[in-house]
Amino acid sequence: MCGIFGIVTDKEQALGALLTEAAQRLTYRGYDSVGAATINGKTIDLRKDKGRVKDVAARYNFAEMRGTRGITQLRWATFGEPSQVNSQPHLDSDGDLVGAHNGNVVNNVELRQQFMAEGMTVRSMNDGESCVHAVERYVDRGYDLLEAIRRAYGDLQGDYSFVIGRADDDKLYAIKKGSGLVVGIGEGFTCVSSDLPSILPLTRTVVRLQDGEIITLAADRVELHSVKDGAPIARPPELITETMEAVQKGGYAHFMLKEIHEQSQVAREVLHMLDGSPDVAAVVEKMKNARNLYFIGCGTSYHACLAGAVYFAQLAGRAAIPVVAPQFMPQYGPTINSQDVGLFVSQSGETKDVLNALEGAEARGMAAYGLANVIGSTLTRATVCSLPLCCGYEISVPATKTFTNQVVTFLYLAYRLAGRDTAELGRIPALMDQTLAMVADQVEKLASEINTWNDLYCLGYGATYPIALEGALKLKEITYAHCEGMLSTEFKHGPLSAVSQGFPILFAAGPLDTPLIVSGLNEVTCRGARAIAIGQDDPRLRANASEVIAIPGSTPEIAALLAVLPLQLLSYHMSVLRGFDPDFPRNLSKTLTVD
Ligand code: M6R
Repeated sequence: MCGIFGIVTDKEQALGALLTEAAQRLTYRGYDSVGAATINGKTIDLRKDKGRVKDVAARYNFAEMRGTRGITQLRWATFGEPSQVNSQPHLDSDGDLVGAHNGNVVNNVELRQQFMAEGMTVRSMNDGESCVHAVERYVDRGYDLLEAIRRAYGDLQGDYSFVIGRADDDKLYAIKKGSGLVVGIGEGFTCVSSDLPSILPLTRTVVRLQDGEIITLAADRVELHSVKDGAPIARPPELITETMEAVQKGGYAHFMLKEIHEQSQVAREVLHMLDGSPDVAAVVEKMKNARNLYFIGCGTSYHACLAGAVYFAQLAGRAAIPVVAPQFMPQYGPTINSQDVGLFVSQSGETKDVLNALEGAEARGMAAYGLANVIGSTLTRATVCSLPLCCGYEISVPATKTFTNQVVTFLYLAYRLAGRDTAELGRIPALMDQTLAMVADQVEKLASEINTWNDLYCLGYGATYPIALEGALKLKEITYAHCEGMLSTEFKHGPLSAVSQGFPILFAAGPLDTPLIVSGLNEVTCRGARAIAIGQDDPRLRANASEVIAIPGSTPEIAALLAVLPLQLLSYHMSVLRGFDPDFPRNLSKTLTVD
């Protein structure tokens, strides 16, 4: 998810170790490359490469870097593969501006063409470099640096923040649009970072920036301005008193809860990325013309494949076959040939079951694409092309934000395949926030009421069937209760016998399937079950369920996606009530590199 850090000090000093430490403290965000730049008088010293912080810092001897100003950046590849040239920070054409960004500049491809046409030296594919050239453009037209940055903001579309400095100046400047940015104020220095962990060892006096603000950092003061009209903004600094661990959890009790609440932000980022990605059109074309199309994954990622197959069929009339990875070769291996296309889905990109299926598929000539969160993972390197999930690091073992971004990506691809306007999907992030706000209290109360049960069911139908499976997986993964996910209509074919007085059954209710869900609700309530319907508010659900957890109105596909949020929250609260650590459930590992 990238991270930036910049510092301005009142005297020339060794900054390399400090920048390395700051970068190290941002590694929890996930990254594949690291770089550092120091500015000493008129000289910029820039060192960067792909790899781990300690390896790159040692190889390029960051320790000897000196100056009064320094910038470091951790890169999580989106535009341009992980490489030395694509690593950040970047220089402008004549090497006197240096800057780095965090986030996605979605019009990067068009901007790079403009910069080249204007005669600038564009060295990489990376959108961080576009931030620097966007400023260079206005500096070359005679604007002072602050004004050039303000104007560049208007040219750079997407969600990002960036920090930039010039050789013959004594300040750094940073701007925020969508991605986090915090400023630290200390004795003889000021600094700026994507997040607090890199600031707190230096100072606990901070100023949090808001979107559309630009900060000027001098060694002895900071000045805040509005990007819109350049007007100064007065914001008193605040004192941070929390521990470092609490800060890393962003004020949440667990990483899982933090990651649940990050879902709207990362959905926004993946939608921006998909809008700007040069790969999407090729992937969609390939899928359109495939003889057979397979979506392959394990666990949560497999549930996203199931959701993708429903979306592809419902929206684009394109059949796709979702398969649990280890079953792929035994079931379909003999039938695979080069006319088939597979999308291999994995958060980690290292799941052995998925890589085994990929190896088998490629041996039979299948065109294999990836959908992964960890860029540079084996899956992203072994496929023709891999789309990034843009979630940053997911620390908690139960997948949450990576699942929703997998589903969002499938939905986006289905829209593109169907020739529909993807702008409609731009509502998703706000709907996610609305859902969490609407359900939070009710779900927490429900968790305390049903927590004594060690047997639950989670049912869905059509687009909500994969969501029911995912909700059940979350529940069993972190509560250690038995929770079975199932097609609602299958319940009467056996499991119905388990129902007793108060038995909790969760229904993920899609708006297209209300009559079927209503009959499912009655089937179990008349036998004493506590039937909880999660869906758009509907009098039919209210009249037939024991209770309704209402989510906001949207399309049937988006409604299915939103229905997973209350289920994630319910699992979280039940896990905590049972005294378990939802981030690190017993017996489980985040990355499964074994057969
Ligand atoms: O990294 P992957 O997406 O390939 O991992 C696959 C599963 O192990 C994973 O989704 C697992 O089911 C989750 N921890 C569930 O929350």
